[in-house]
Amino acid sequence: MKKTIAVLPGDGVGKEVISCAVLVLKKIAQKFNHQFEFIEGLIGHQAILKTGVPLPKETKDLVEKADAILFGAIGDPYYDQNPNLKVRPEQGLLELRKSLGLYANLRPIKVFPSLVDKSPLKKEIVEKVDFIVVRELIGGIYFGKKGQENNMAFDTATYTKDEIVRVSLLAFSLAQKRRKKLTLVDKANVLETSRLWRKVVQELAKKYPEVSLEMMYVDNAAMQIIKKPKEFDVILTENMFGDILTDEASVIIGSIGLLPSASIGEKKALYEPIHGSFPKAAGKNIANPVGTILSASMMLDLSFSLKKESQTIEKAVEKAVSTGIGTYDINKENPVSTTEFTQKIIEFI
Ligand code: IPM
Ligand code: MG
Repeated sequence: MKKTIAVLPGDGVGKEVISCAVLVLKKIAQKFNHQFEFIEGLIGHQAILKTGVPLPKETKDLVEKADAILFGAIGDPYYDQNPNLKVRPEQGLLELRKSLGLYANLRPIKVFPSLVDKSPLKKEIVEKVDFIVVRELIGGIYFGKKGQENNMAFDTATYTKDEIVRVSLLAFSLAQKRRKKLTLVDKANVLETSRLWRKVVQELAKKYPEVSLEMMYVDNAAMQIIKKPKEFDVILTENMFGDILTDEASVIIGSIGLLPSASIGEKKALYEPIHGSFPKAAGKNIANPVGTILSASMMLDLSFSLKKESQTIEKAVEKAVSTGIGTYDINKENPVSTTEFTQKIIEFI
């Protein structure tokens, strides 16, 4: 199989973890006789420094040509020190998600059996946790009208029925293939948008009688996710709630550095770890590459239908992790570097 992959390392540790995932993909290409061509582009702070904008035209063109996109991380502390700057790195990622129509962000939260004791939560709570968050990605408060005037600021959350339907259909069909439970997380006791979500999702549920639908307020969900995470199968939620809850869910797994994600749209998809740019670790070769490597594995499965190849990566990661090897976030006593960890995974492939 011949595929072109756009590689957007972005900021902070993005560059390091992305180069690890590319090495893994090259190994897969060699082992299974595929041709992957990698084309690299600028995004985020790196792009602002060189071109003045967070998503330059060259990057948009390159993404257009690609079959799928592998993305690192975005953000830089410089912008928190200068909060009045109009141009921010994050705008690059948001614009990319919007322009590609990436309406569903899939974030699997699956415990590695050998890392159960890395979680600050009790073993009996963490063991066998396996759920997936379907986060709406291009609507809601992230993209509504926003502004600041005098001493007033506003962000607006809007959702249309169609925006809710397309992501919900995906969540229902995922639930059908899994344990057939769907939890809609919202704030319907306060927000109009949430009331529309409930109405639309309850209507769709009639077409999926075998899926049991549960509604949960987001404040309660924040509590249940760490209290009884095993109860969840598929969580469906709007953009901002999904952003917050998945960072929280990473605590169950032991490290946010382990978690991959896929952003699915009408045409092509983008794959990225859920962690951020981790500026303190940048350039030190200490970031966990697993989230990005597993994102590459999701790419092989979802964009290229290369199931066996995708599973080969997953198994290699699991094996490496189960030998006890790991970066600082999962192995404080005897950590290895980002690149050593990756070499071990490649060996197992
Ligand atoms: C994420 C990130 C982004 C988001 C930021 C970097 C804009 O936190 O992908 O979860 O809020 O969506
Ligand atoms: Mg986030």
